[in-house]
Amino acid sequence: MAKVHVFNAGPCLLPQPVIDASIEALKDFKGTGVSVLSISHRTKEWEATMNECRSLWKELLNIPDTHEVVFLGGGASLEFLYVAMNFLEKKAAYLDTGVWAHKALKEAQGIGEAYALACSKDKNYSYIPKGYEIPTDIDYFHITTNNTIYGTEIKEDIDCPVPLIADMSSDILSRPVDVSKYALIYGGAQKNAGPAGVIFAIIRKDALGKVSRYLPTMLDYRTHIEKESMFNTPPVFSIFVMNETLKWLKGIGGVEEMNRINNRKAATLYAEIDRNSLFTGTAAVEDRSIMNVCFVMAPGHEDLQDEFMAFSKERGMVGIKGHRSVGGFRASLYNACSQEDVEALVACMQDFEKLHK
Ligand SMILES: Cc1ncc(COP(=O)(O)O)c(C=O)c1O
Repeated sequence: MAKVHVFNAGPCLLPQPVIDASIEALKDFKGTGVSVLSISHRTKEWEATMNECRSLWKELLNIPDTHEVVFLGGGASLEFLYVAMNFLEKKAAYLDTGVWAHKALKEAQGIGEAYALACSKDKNYSYIPKGYEIPTDIDYFHITTNNTIYGTEIKEDIDCPVPLIADMSSDILSRPVDVSKYALIYGGAQKNAGPAGVIFAIIRKDALGKVSRYLPTMLDYRTHIEKESMFNTPPVFSIFVMNETLKWLKGIGGVEEMNRINNRKAATLYAEIDRNSLFTGTAAVEDRSIMNVCFVMAPGHEDLQDEFMAFSKERGMVGIKGHRSVGGFRASLYNACSQEDVEALVACMQDFEKLHK
């Protein structure tokens, strides 16, 4: 099979050593003679993996002792509900920067009073709202740091006078984060942290226990902190693969080094989008995501969209179709995507331009 370059938005490319270790563990988990699919989560071998995974999260993101990290099932979409159940008492504000941010807000509105403090829907979420003032009479302020569909990103840890909660599903582990600034960081693993099927939550412990509602046991973050993510059967295989992904990330130098690699990849692709007469970027330049690069055919060349899609497919590009709500193209440059993959896409865009000159 010809070499493929995978730019899927999630689930996405995982590093080859992670795939290889997973294949091995499917056959025999740590020399137990039992597949990782069949291993009991109450064995010492499994507990060691779980502990290693927790420690690696703490080490890679420099998570302070004030915070704890838990792994759960259910999808990042379920965490929209966790957030509101665990933190919303009187009122919460959300930054509405796209479909996922909006869904998080809607979920909170089913639980209590929540509103969009600022919104960028007027320009199809192509920018991050600025100049808003965060009120102090709210329980928390919720942001989505990377807007997977639109290719916009909040790249700094913002100053916030109230507990700050962030959905980092699509940029976690791509860069250093000052965890101490957040009451909660959550997301699905299926971009930079591993495969689908497991979600993470990094929680400031003293931010919990402030709501008066009844919390079902499974929806109470305190349950999972107390039981070290093993209150019920955890998604064993997904956590195994996540742990391997973290080991790989540590091996290449951690999040600082990853950030350097990611910035270079993104700069390479954005430079080509800006240079190539056939393409144009869709996100506001100052808010461009390092993870999801969105672009369309330049004005006057819209009719070439299907042709480029077929052309790029023939060259081995996988997963560059834009989300249906934006159209065009999206190349997701998550951690496992290499500079070589990006350069292959750039070469493909250049060859396509030559074809049409
Ligand atoms: C930023 C963001 N938040 C939430 C989600 C929803 O994740 P899940 O499918 O795990 O519910 C996604 C999915 O792509 C996402 O990109």
